[in-house]
Amino acid sequence: MAKKNILQPTISYILPLLLLLLAVNSHAHNVTRLLANHPSFSSFNHFLTQTHLADEINRRTTITVCAVDNSVMSFLTSKGYSISTLKNIISLHVLLDYFGTKKLHQIRDGSALAATLFQATGAAPGTTGFVNITDLRGGKVGFGPDGGDLSSFFVKSIEEVPYNISIIQISKVLPSETAAAPTPAPAEMNLTGIMSAHGCKVFAETLLVNPGASKTYQDSLEGGMTVFCPGDDAMKGFLPKYKNLTAPKKEVFLEFLAVPTYYSMAMLKSNNGPMNTLATDGANKFELTVQNDGEQVTLKTRLNTVKIVDTLIDEQPLAIYATDKVLLPKELFKASAVEAPAPAPAPEDGDVADSPKPAKGKAKGKKKAAPSPDSFDESDSPAEGPDGVADDATADDAGAVRIVGGAKAGLVVSLLCLFASSWLL
Ligand SMILES: *[C@@H]1O[C@H](CO)[C@@H](O)[C@H](O)[C@H]1NC(C)=O
Ligand SMILES: *[C@@H]1O[C@H](CO)[C@@H](O)[C@H](O)[C@H]1NC(C)=O
Ligand SMILES: *[C@@H]1O[C@H](CO)[C@@H](O)[C@H](O)[C@H]1NC(C)=O
Ligand SMILES: *[C@@H]1O[C@H](CO)[C@@H](O)[C@H](O)[C@H]1NC(C)=O
Ligand SMILES: *[C@@H]1O[C@H](CO)[C@@H](O)[C@H](O)[C@H]1NC(C)=O
Repeated sequence: MAKKNILQPTISYILPLLLLLLAVNSHAHNVTRLLANHPSFSSFNHFLTQTHLADEINRRTTITVCAVDNSVMSFLTSKGYSISTLKNIISLHVLLDYFGTKKLHQIRDGSALAATLFQATGAAPGTTGFVNITDLRGGKVGFGPDGGDLSSFFVKSIEEVPYNISIIQISKVLPSETAAAPTPAPAEMNLTGIMSAHGCKVFAETLLVNPGASKTYQDSLEGGMTVFCPGDDAMKGFLPKYKNLTAPKKEVFLEFLAVPTYYSMAMLKSNNGPMNTLATDGANKFELTVQNDGEQVTLKTRLNTVKIVDTLIDEQPLAIYATDKVLLPKELFKASAVEAPAPAPAPEDGDVADSPKPAKGKAKGKKKAAPSPDSFDESDSPAEGPDGVADDATADDAGAVRIVGGAKAGLVVSLLCLFASSWLL
């Protein structure tokens, strides 16, 4: 009897703690952290971060990373590859299947082809993004690009988190002319060409005939840029409204749909909160807010919310995503929202907002003239459905709060576990 009395409180303290630990550890793996325990792979680890492949690896499960040590990496980096070529080469070393030591030595029929991240990016023509893994004589395991020499060998297991991620060492970089081919320099990337070819033709054409915005886009490319172009149907429906804007407003509107930082999809998914755009200039905030709903990335302003529905390109330094609707900057459409409903004379502040790079006092002046949240409805683009406007009026600031949401949710889950386990006992 006495034994039970002593034991029970102990268990009821320990179990919740265990559950709490489990709750904390149930997060996906972090390849950067896993490799940080192995200094002889610090260079490989560094380039996983540099190329943003780490984000991509952390997002996936059932994955194998074939790492090479610092001496092999220094040989690779001495060749003067650009960062985007290095990204292609290293992405060929990330297998989209789980190969722990045991499985490597017991491959069925002695040979397997594994798809890689290089294949998944779409940058690899044919099957050049596949890796051949073959059990050779004497227990050796050889690696090579499909159709190429099996000249790189399994050395050892570095970290295994079955069956989420296995990190192994191989002796050499997988030789692939395709992966090592020079990628187009950022300045040579044809922005409007990429957009036109992938469902954002109307936006591309609009951008092309606007020299000011075109130049801003081109100038931002080198340092990294992410564009959110409206899909053709959305942009077509929006054109009458766009054509109504003054020339300076047209330019600033186009600039509003790009941010001066490269964000891969994985980064967008882990990056809730407000962002500056190419239109941000001193007092003119022209911010948009990234907000995730599970796997769905949405963008919002005070006026509306749009969804990312397609990735046109995601190759450092450039990412272009298509959106289902036209994201409306509150700085441009707040005023017209007042004008639109009735054919009444336009209010004064419409003119104020017309000036391209207005004086510092502008934001303040506009705030005074801001319409009630209800009148935002009218600023909805014609291309948009009836949804998602009323609730969007609850300010961009909601996004900022969401940043800490993840951490809070984790805590709540842990606390719930704690309560649940106390009850169970
Ligand atoms: C494997 O990944 C899943 C999904 O991210 C996660 O829930 C699980 O805890 C991971 N397993 C391990 C052992 O880390
Ligand atoms: C992964 O770990 C590194 C180093 O500890 C850290 O800087 C990074 O923020 C982590 N990434 C994620 C997604 O947690
Ligand atoms: C892997 O390469 C070896 C040697 O070139 C070849 O014999 C084998 O068929 C290949 N395996 C697969 C699955 O293609
Ligand atoms: C970019 O692509 C567009 C559309 O495909 C094409 O008209 C234009 O000539 C291209 N520009 C350059 C510089 O290649
Ligand atoms: C364009 O502006 C005029 C005058 O301000 C307005 O009456 C008209 O409704 C606007 N058209 C669109 C499509 O916004």
